[in-house]
Amino acid sequence: MNEPKKVKILGTGAHAPDAVLRNDDLCHLIDTSDEWIVERTGIRERRVVRDSEATSDLATEAARKAIEAAGLAPEDIDAIVLGTITPDTIFPSTACYLQKRLGCRKIPAFDILAACTGFVYGCAIGASFIEAGLFRHVLVLGAETLTKITDYQDRNTCILFGDGAGAVVLGPSDGESCFLSFNLYSELDDKMMVLPAGGSRMPATHQTVDNRLHYMHLRGREIFRFAVTEMCNMLEHEFKTLGIGPNDIRYIIPHQVNLRILKAAADRFGIPLEKIYVNLDRYGNTSAASVPIALDEAVRAGKIKRGDLLMFVAFGGGKTWGSTVLRY
Ligand code: ACO
Repeated sequence: MNEPKKVKILGTGAHAPDAVLRNDDLCHLIDTSDEWIVERTGIRERRVVRDSEATSDLATEAARKAIEAAGLAPEDIDAIVLGTITPDTIFPSTACYLQKRLGCRKIPAFDILAACTGFVYGCAIGASFIEAGLFRHVLVLGAETLTKITDYQDRNTCILFGDGAGAVVLGPSDGESCFLSFNLYSELDDKMMVLPAGGSRMPATHQTVDNRLHYMHLRGREIFRFAVTEMCNMLEHEFKTLGIGPNDIRYIIPHQVNLRILKAAADRFGIPLEKIYVNLDRYGNTSAASVPIALDEAVRAGKIKRGDLLMFVAFGGGKTWGSTVLRY
């Protein structure tokens, strides 16, 4: 039997819409202030799609950049795995729109729904395909248009979210660059983070629209506690099982949820904040897209080099959470 193949990231890409929604702009919609939002979340602005744009529009641009960075062409891609909670349509999947628009062959393409953990789940799926010898090049994305499911009458939530897409191409590795671990989890909580209507439990009616049930409903304080607890548990588990410490890692790239959450987890382990890659001040929370957007930004800025040790940690609706350590 063949040895399982090692898998690495061959190239990264990201795309966000041009339009910027600043904290001051939100003050015209709800009772809030730039000061409150910055102090409680660290967010200063976020990107917003036009009404006519959908998730696949952002994902296509991110994918093109990742494929180019990998030195490949669309016809070299063997599968597409896309994490999103804001698909263009429930079906066809957003990944299928990408298959067509990128000009890929008739390859498998599907969405996964793991909220903010979608990209980390997707990396595990893509890497497993390659390790098993099923495919050679897998395009993995996190892409969201969260502003389409955000209630701009709810000041507890509308300050948090933005739009964007990030992508990686995974492929076999014959060097030291490779994924070293995947740890994925879920535990149902359908109150903490939920989009109540539009599924089979509560199909769309005039009443669900009137009651604003097609928007995200969140319990911010509970999410805060969950995110800090599980981010700490994941850091501890990865450090322990891989026999590494914060000093070995170039960057922890977390889901960009809230600066206070990231600081609380970093403090617990005495990790200097510079080791936690943060760009939520400019993008807000883009759910599944947040880790790959941050990764691409750091790679293109030359802050991450081949051979650097990275950790991705994400947590979100489901609840779902997961981490991976890789040598870039
Ligand atoms: N502007 C001004 N005041 C506000 C705002 C606002 N935008 N929102 C809430 N407040 C008020 C509240 O009404 C409350 O007032 P009260 O004390 O008179 O009742 C006060 O500020 C404090 O509210 P808290 O909810 O305790 O504020 P907290 O410090 O917890 O911050 C926040 C709220 C930012 C939502 C925080 O809990 C958080 O970031 N949680 C994580 C949420 C998140 O990112 N979820 C994403 C996951 S979703 C997914 O996976 C798809």
